[in-house]
Amino acid sequence: MQVREAYDLWSQQYDTSDNRTRDLEAVALRTMLGEVPFTRCLEIGCGTGKNTQWLMTRAQRVTAVDLSEGMLAKAREKITPDTVQFVQADILQPWDFKTGLFDLVTFSLVLEHIEHLVPVLKEAATSLASGGYVYIGELHPFKQYAGTKAHYSTEQGVEVVTCFDHHVSDFLQAARSNGLELLQLSEHFDTDDRSKPPKILSLLLVKK
Ligand SMILES: C[S@@+](CC[C@H](N)C(=O)[O-])C[C@H]1O[C@@H](n2cnc3c(N)ncnc32)[C@H](O)[C@@H]1O
Repeated sequence: MQVREAYDLWSQQYDTSDNRTRDLEAVALRTMLGEVPFTRCLEIGCGTGKNTQWLMTRAQRVTAVDLSEGMLAKAREKITPDTVQFVQADILQPWDFKTGLFDLVTFSLVLEHIEHLVPVLKEAATSLASGGYVYIGELHPFKQYAGTKAHYSTEQGVEVVTCFDHHVSDFLQAARSNGLELLQLSEHFDTDDRSKPPKILSLLLVKK
C-alpha cells in the first residue's frame, strides 16, 4: 500500500498495538543520542511523536516533519509545547520546511520507505550546521533480507507498506557522498538475544 495512505490508516493503532520494532528503536535513539549535544533538532518522519517527546526535552527547538496527517494528528494530541513545530511534508520534495540550520537531523524507521537515499541525505546534510549530527535508526537489513516489512493488521488482513531494502554500505556511501562521516554504529537485539539477527541498526553521522 502507498505510504501516506497506509500511515493515515495505521495512525489509529500505531501507538496502541504491539510493535517491538517501534519500541526497540526508541531505545536505540535514546541510547545513541544520550551524550550528543544539540539544541536545534529536525525530526524527519516523526509519526505519532514517539521520539519527539524525548527530543523536545533535550532541544530548545524541534521541527517535526511527517507525510501523514493521521500520524501528525496523533502527535499533536500528545505534544503541545510551542518549542515543537509540526509540519506536514513529503521529504521526497525539496525541504521547504528548513528554517535556519540544525544541530541534529533524525530519521527513525523512515528510510525504509525511501527508495533513493542520496538526495534525502543531501537535504539532511545541507540542513546541518558544521559539526552537526545525523541519527538513523532503521529496521536492520538482516531482518529485511528475511522478509520483514512495515505492516499492520486490519479486519481485512495484514497490510504491508511500500518498503525498500538498504544495505549497510548503502547508508554509509550515501552519507559519505554528502560529507557525512560515521561516528558510531550500533545493533539492537530483540529481547537482548544476541544469538538471533539484530532487529535495529542505528547510525550516528557527523557533518565535517
Ligand atoms: C514507521 S513510522 C515511524 C514514526 C516514528 N519515527 C517512530 O519511530 O515511531 C514511519 C513514518 O515515516 C513517515 N514517512 C514515510 N515516508 C515519508 C516521506 N516521504 N516524507 C515524510 N514522512 C514520511 C510516515 O508517514 C510515518 O509516520
